[in-house]
Amino acid sequence: NCQVKLFQPLNIKNVTLKNRLIVAPMCIFSTHSDGKPNSLHLIHYGNLALRGAGLIIVEATAVQEIGRITPYDLGLWSDEQIAPFKALVENMHFQGSLAGIQLAHAGRKASGPNELLRNQKGMSTIEEGGWPEKIVAPSPIPVDNDWATPNELNKEQIKQLINDFANAARRANEAGFDVVEIHAAHGYLIHQFLSPITNKRTDEYGGSFENRIRLCLEVIEGIKTQWPAEKPLFIRFSCTDFIENGWNIQETVKLCTIIKKMGIDVVDCSAGALDGRLQNLPPLVPGYQVPYAHEVKKQNPDMLVTAVGLITNGKQAEEILQNDYADAITVGRSFLRDSSTVLNWADELGVDIEWPCQYSRARISKN
Ligand code: FNR
Repeated sequence: NCQVKLFQPLNIKNVTLKNRLIVAPMCIFSTHSDGKPNSLHLIHYGNLALRGAGLIIVEATAVQEIGRITPYDLGLWSDEQIAPFKALVENMHFQGSLAGIQLAHAGRKASGPNELLRNQKGMSTIEEGGWPEKIVAPSPIPVDNDWATPNELNKEQIKQLINDFANAARRANEAGFDVVEIHAAHGYLIHQFLSPITNKRTDEYGGSFENRIRLCLEVIEGIKTQWPAEKPLFIRFSCTDFIENGWNIQETVKLCTIIKKMGIDVVDCSAGALDGRLQNLPPLVPGYQVPYAHEVKKQNPDMLVTAVGLITNGKQAEEILQNDYADAITVGRSFLRDSSTVLNWADELGVDIEWPCQYSRARISKN
């Protein structure tokens, strides 16, 4: 009965988010190069899980070893990786949180720099655990001069890729995840197929809108063969490339109509990051990506939509929901700055939510 929409539950298929704040997938680049979550992941996600978000989406997790953004990314390309993910999910569930996972392939942006080493540019070399000569993409166009030219995927490899997305979804289910999100944003592989800037193919995977979206649709179909129909399936798009003649909001809206019919439940509306040199970014003002969520929702009223990007306080988040621009709010960096973001925004909006009992005596309003 809460009047504040941000703290109203949201039902999606067989799960209920206790509020409409979702922790965005954010890489912490901290595996031991084996793709497996370790104690740091248990601490990081466990800490977030204690603190009341409606849903936490675990960072971009690679469906192929060569699909990692860096050598330190999580991965679900092998059955051996299921057990440590199961431990991670159990830890999150034990703290009362729902657990989502973002399945990803970095394509031409794989083998990237170890973000933990400051000022590193370009790719990770073989000596640094990278695989610069093995990166793949729809077309052999490098990110920029600091990056290797990717290998153009052939049909056989595309089939394998779809299979690997499907198998990663099966493993995510076996690990106990509640939600899978497909990473089709930020210039990674699926986005590279969607955008005519990075996709110059002349076969059925390139050229027309119908051809450029083909891989995305086939990945969804593949995942649906392995991911239970009763569990929510999310997708994240860059709604525009911010590049003239690039992927744009009209194409995103059109694609959303198609994938809604295929069973996608939620679209997370991000933007950009396809090509840092070509993109013409708008001023990065608070909520600058919200209009994309609004447009997707307006044109696809049945689709659940989340807004993301520089949403940094409860009032701003609540306004977005009250205006019906989105159904939920995805928040990234605020959670890295302060894992108590949900508790703080509840206080800000005057909503009395449950605190982890271990910390309840720290609550200023309840002293
Ligand atoms: C990100 N972002 C991101 N996005 C994504 O889809 N998958 C990912 O794994 C990551 N990783 C990642 C790591 C770090 C350290 C940051 C800061 C960001 C983007 C993130 O999910 C979000 O969309 C942006 O940070 C914008 O939202 P905020 O931070 O303004 O709330």
